[in-house]
Amino acid sequence: MEIIILPTPAEVGRVAAAKIASIVADKPTAVIGLATGSSPQGIYQDLQRRIAAGEISFAQARGFALDEYVGIPLDHPESYASVIARDVVGPLGFDASRVRVPDGRATDIEFAAKEYDAAIRAAGGIDVQILGIGANGHIGFNEPTSSFASRTRIKTLAPSTREANARFFDSLDQVPTHCMTQGLGTILEARQLVLVAQGSTKAAAVAAAVEGPLSSFVPGSALQLHQHATVVVDEAAAADLQLGDYYRYTYEHKPEWQRFE
Ligand code: F6R
Repeated sequence: MEIIILPTPAEVGRVAAAKIASIVADKPTAVIGLATGSSPQGIYQDLQRRIAAGEISFAQARGFALDEYVGIPLDHPESYASVIARDVVGPLGFDASRVRVPDGRATDIEFAAKEYDAAIRAAGGIDVQILGIGANGHIGFNEPTSSFASRTRIKTLAPSTREANARFFDSLDQVPTHCMTQGLGTILEARQLVLVAQGSTKAAAVAAAVEGPLSSFVPGSALQLHQHATVVVDEAAAADLQLGDYYRYTYEHKPEWQRFE
């Protein structure tokens, strides 16, 4: 796992975006795993800058969202279908027909979840999965004790996740109780993972995921099983890391040929 500690949230967005951009530049048809929430916003903004500069294009790329709420209409402004359309598809110039979000409104949720995993496979698999992390260690909406082998499925959101996401809704009552999320097993099949975290509220989760024991109690620790995971955090989110100085040293001494920015 590569851990990159940067001074500011803006730098986190820039460097994580550089990683995504290098993949899309090499493979314009790349399949991108798309996270929602606050954490990846800096990535999406920096990618827009690179598109405007003519460095990259997502016109031929494909996208698969990580998760979706169950229990709110498709056109609700906070459905992840709406968020992905507003924050990602439009601004990054994806072809909307090449971007999918799990169908949280399906009458047969189990079937829809299996079909989502099958669609990812049929697209050739995800080249790079963008991830945030919850304060309780979740990735996607794989809440603590999610199996490392789990596939896309319905999950009950932890009360703390609903509280954290209440900021996007008028009240806590309006935050759905359930979601459909790519499983940890699904996420681990992506060729590369890029997790970003900013701010002190993520410090404990980042340390547990990166340096703690492999445990379904900390779903983010599944990254330790992946061959090519990059964790990009700001100083506040890095505060609880025991080997912070080593990660900074490693990044400073990274061989030129390995750099992607
Ligand atoms: C979003 C997702 C979640 C968020 C996590 C952090 O698609 O899957 O795992 O990444 O809840 O959320 P923010 O970034 O809003 O702090």
